[in-house]
Amino acid sequence: MRIAVLGGDGFCGWPVALHLSRHGHDVTVVDSLVRRRTDDELGVESLTPVRPLPERLAAWWEVTGLVVRHVRLDLAREPERLAALLAAERPEAVVHLAEQRAAPYSMRDAAHKRYTVDTNVNATHNLLAALVEVGLDAHVVHLGTMGVYGYETAAVDLPEGYLHVSYPDRTGASIERDVLYPTRPGSVYHLTKSLDQLLFQFYAQNDGLRITDLHQGIVWGTQTPETRLDPRLVNRFDYDGDYGTVLNRFLVQAALGLPLTVHGTGGQTRAFINLEDTVRCVRLAVESGDAVVGGRVRIMNQVAETLRVRDLAAMLHRLLGAEVAHVPNPRAEAAENELEVRTDQLRDLGLEPILLEERLLEESLETARRYAGRVDPARVPATACWNAERRAAAAPAEAGR
Ligand SMILES: NC(=O)c1ccc[n+]([C@@H]2O[C@H](COP(=O)([O-])OP(=O)(O)OC[C@H]3O[C@@H](n4cnc5c(N)ncnc54)[C@H](O)[C@@H]3O)[C@@H](O)[C@H]2O)c1
Repeated sequence: MRIAVLGGDGFCGWPVALHLSRHGHDVTVVDSLVRRRTDDELGVESLTPVRPLPERLAAWWEVTGLVVRHVRLDLAREPERLAALLAAERPEAVVHLAEQRAAPYSMRDAAHKRYTVDTNVNATHNLLAALVEVGLDAHVVHLGTMGVYGYETAAVDLPEGYLHVSYPDRTGASIERDVLYPTRPGSVYHLTKSLDQLLFQFYAQNDGLRITDLHQGIVWGTQTPETRLDPRLVNRFDYDGDYGTVLNRFLVQAALGLPLTVHGTGGQTRAFINLEDTVRCVRLAVESGDAVVGGRVRIMNQVAETLRVRDLAAMLHRLLGAEVAHVPNPRAEAAENELEVRTDQLRDLGLEPILLEERLLEESLETARRYAGRVDPARVPATACWNAERRAAAAPAEAGR
């Protein structure tokens, strides 16, 4: 299949592009490389020494004999070039991962909020409008987030995107409908993913676009069978307080002998998935595209399991003796929540998820230890505050960190 991987230089996108290529697909990476510039803005770099994209692609060809091309293009700001690319390449599937994806980054200040909304909403909308303009029936597979559901405790197993509701019409007869599950975004980033859902619904209904939206949990791990083939293929490993995901940051803290910074009580329950499952799920979604019809967006929860943050910290304490430090939570969120999630659709497609086990943490820990010399310990704690007053109050303390 001809597949365009938008955001194919990123943490999930790079291993997705290689995995699809290795499974016989003809892959073009479309990426503005903005994520590399964001590292410069934040004054951090990936824990792993990520090679420039042309070098990565040359190494992939050298090691496997497979060609993956790159087109440098900003989806949000170059809509005409995007339409021209789609018209010329005519991909059969478009995997869309090209968004600003860090919740803390999106909450830093008004400029970062605007940047996140402008980038994410326009990137998604430009893609959908271009597909209609070009008349291309490509299946869109979007990486969304479990965060759109919010994290209040609900006594249900979260359904996959839709809530079945019945309500009485004027005569008292029952009307039955599936509606998008009410969103409760916890950051501007999550808000943009909620807005994406409405864009998808509109274009599926109005134009018959075929769309799969994957509501993904927090990704842990860093390597996949493809990125392990050569050191030049190594994947990103973000450990900083903006882009680092919770478990990967804990691993770096543990490797450096720093306390694991648990926000508040650590009672937050979140959905997790290993990176190897992320790439498998995206392939399963792409390869089952014939089952997706216009009119209704297919929404699948891309989750292996749910875990409580303090239990993760306790596991690393048991495994490595890492100390745990409870720090004030910079986010505005429930201190404790329950979370159960339905994942029937991806399991029906063949997903047998990797569950977090101590032995599986070893490889990530080994990576963290190998590159520990590249870590700036001051950049590990999350500093972006959700609440403006607390942000102002925290400023002097943060400066001293
Ligand atoms: N990493 C996670 O834990 C996680 C969890 C749930 C969902 N997701 C979703 O998966 C997707 C990929 O996440 P990631 O962790 O790989 O992020 P990432 O920041 O590492 O990668 C995103 C890539 O998209 C590119 N990009 C961003 N804006 C662009 C634009 N306007 N035009 C062209 N390229 C652009 C960046 O340069 C980068 O290479 C995101 O949409 C994210 O919301 C990620």
